[in-house]
Amino acid sequence: MPEKDKEGKNFHVNQPQESELFFLKGSNELDWGMKNRLARIFSPEDGRTIMLAIDHGYFQGPTTGLERIDINIMPLVPQADTLMCTRGILRSVVPPSLTKPVVIRASGGPSILKELSDEQIAMDMEDCIRLGVCATAIQVFIGGEYESRSVINMTKLVDAGLRYGIPTMAVTAVGREMERNAKYFRLAVRMCAELGAHYVKTYYVDEGFDTVTASCPVPIVIAGGKKRPERDALEMAYRALQEGAAGVDMGRNIFQADNPVAMMQAVRAVVHGGEKPDKAFELYKSLKGK
Ligand code: R5P
Repeated sequence: MPEKDKEGKNFHVNQPQESELFFLKGSNELDWGMKNRLARIFSPEDGRTIMLAIDHGYFQGPTTGLERIDINIMPLVPQADTLMCTRGILRSVVPPSLTKPVVIRASGGPSILKELSDEQIAMDMEDCIRLGVCATAIQVFIGGEYESRSVINMTKLVDAGLRYGIPTMAVTAVGREMERNAKYFRLAVRMCAELGAHYVKTYYVDEGFDTVTASCPVPIVIAGGKKRPERDALEMAYRALQEGAAGVDMGRNIFQADNPVAMMQAVRAVVHGGEKPDKAFELYKSLKGK
């Protein structure tokens, strides 16, 4: 028989209960589970994230830097906020003791040998729940051969995620034939957001990126794209953040760097430390030299 407790008396009747606005752009009306997952991906301190993207093998196999995830990638994970990968890599290589949030690649199908926009949803929401992921990621091919289907696939994933409180990150793909300018990205990210994506990954453009972020009602993170010199990659990240991005989802510019661990730390200095590119590059060089 439990001991009888005394009735509480301290009701603070003159103090209204506090309710805070959620810190992420366009996300205030989401349900608790969605917000909680997003708050694990994006830091509530500064609203930013460093996602480490290592999902490239889902269409291009063991590309440079991803030959051995256990050896090359796992040492980078402590400096990332979020790991973005496929369920195959998660189950086979990533230790389940990982407490960082995972964003799971949930689309796939064609390889680099075929038409890439022919992607499908390649993962069931039930498995996303089983794996405890914080968001799903799906490629959307605006202007691509299978544009319409890829958009509808995204909406299906959004609907499935909404049932269980799992956010969807839409990834704007840029195929060979697609443009890479602000006008194109304004269209692509806005379509993704209008049709339900909770945040969008896109590419940085030198001209007018601030119009891409301004006209997108949900957070944007940038992909790194092809490998470029380390200082340039740090500058791109810095400029993207200055122009409204909420973080990076970076892969090749980290794991293909001369020293990926040092690059990871330099990116961290830019995203969360507000470090300017020159200083971050100095940090990279000093860490690399160690
Ligand atoms: C496509 O391969 C994936 O969505 C990658 O996660 C994405 O492109 C980000 O990686 P990277 O910075 O290498 O472009």
